[in-house]
Amino acid sequence: MPFKKIFLNEKDIPRRWYNLAADLPSPMQPPLGPDGNPLKPEMLAKVFPMNIIEQEVSTARWIDIPDEILELLTLWRPAPLRRALALEKYLLTPAHIYYKDESTSPAGSHKPNTAVAQAWYNKKFGIKRLTTETGAGQWGCALAFACNLIGLECKVYMVRISFDQKPLRKIMMQTWGANCIASPSGQTHAGRQILKKMPHTPGSLGIAISEAVEDAVTDKSGSSRYSLGSVLNHVLLHQTVIGLEAKKQLKIAGERKPDVVIGCVGGGSNFAGIAFPFICDKIHGEKIEIIPVEPTACPTLTKGPFTYDFGDTAGLTPLLPMYTLGHGFVPEPIHAGGLRYHGMAPLVSQAAVEGLINPRAFDQIKCYEAAMLWAKTEGTICAPETSHAIACTIDEAKKAKKEGKEKVILFCYSGHGLMDLAGYDKFLSGKLTAYSMPKHKIEESLRPLKNFPKARKIKTGRW
Ligand SMILES: Cc1ncc(COP(=O)(O)O)c(C=O)c1O
Repeated sequence: MPFKKIFLNEKDIPRRWYNLAADLPSPMQPPLGPDGNPLKPEMLAKVFPMNIIEQEVSTARWIDIPDEILELLTLWRPAPLRRALALEKYLLTPAHIYYKDESTSPAGSHKPNTAVAQAWYNKKFGIKRLTTETGAGQWGCALAFACNLIGLECKVYMVRISFDQKPLRKIMMQTWGANCIASPSGQTHAGRQILKKMPHTPGSLGIAISEAVEDAVTDKSGSSRYSLGSVLNHVLLHQTVIGLEAKKQLKIAGERKPDVVIGCVGGGSNFAGIAFPFICDKIHGEKIEIIPVEPTACPTLTKGPFTYDFGDTAGLTPLLPMYTLGHGFVPEPIHAGGLRYHGMAPLVSQAAVEGLINPRAFDQIKCYEAAMLWAKTEGTICAPETSHAIACTIDEAKKAKKEGKEKVILFCYSGHGLMDLAGYDKFLSGKLTAYSMPKHKIEESLRPLKNFPKARKIKTGRW
């Protein structure tokens, strides 16, 4: 009988993170400071501790995971690799569908993989308090959990629409001792400015980032820093334990390699976690199709240009070379709150420029239909973000059936949806629509970028 789940021993947890920056065949362009010149690492010192900035700019292929972080990760890692045999049977597909189950972490998603690492490095640097933003609440919960574990204060600016849609996430954050408020708030200059212009805005990750960064850098005690749950190199790095474990587990299952690797993308860290170790194999000659999946309501990779843009709405972050819908973009209030981000991680963006990954977009109706089929076959209720990866997996499994190929499909089950039932309720009562971002809205939100520095699309042409 084929395996249903594969566990690793605690001693098999990866000892090093994988850094794709070391292997990307085309060079990354640097982040730019306010003067338009490449940013010097020390210019970030008010935002992040120096030990994290060192990781951010590192081009080493492997970075050792400190023993104390490994010990924290073993609270829930290694995470199981499961095979979706019931879904395979339902679809009558010859494909083997595997999924890395990141929903088993205390906060219910992949996010704690970087939250504990970031909290640990901040504590080591002498920081006492972290600020952050959260969309759906998964990241806020992860950082609240990690700060509690390590002994740091935590303040979370939660995007207004999610704050209203997902009150249980706020209670989780409070249970771990964090202070969670709705963004835009009246507590920061950036928040007040936005409320003046758009008093009824549902908020966005870009706005919440502006508030959290401002809060950290204006703390006169100097003991606050900001922590980001996605996008930046060090965050993507910390998530690579997902793909590194999956590689070992696929071997145990008797699979030489996956043919297709799939992850949903917001800012890019979940996708990077499952995909980067396999992108490394692809760079070195393996044939693997690697698919980031985003919502049609926020089609950063599939419809946005590759250019320099701010990571936040108020323009407090450096300019990053990335696919973007414009830093002022406020997406429709779809339920996959964690995928409502205007930009894409520079490392994921450069992999897309190089042609190493093939992005796709799905609307929320198709995603909820996939989530329902998943619940009825595999039994678990997935996060709305995760449903994007499932929708794509189902398409790929059907394609394998059409082609008559026994393909190995791997995707990241990035989180459970037990705190997201309001979205299921709306779907079940027919209140959701299949929203796609119209072209004129994209053009409008890109207008402010007209005079920004242009990023060059540098690629080798090998893929
Ligand atoms: C369950 C889940 N999956 C995926 C994502 C997307 O993560 P990323 O921003 O790292 O792409 C999120 C973001 O909040 C999430 O909560």
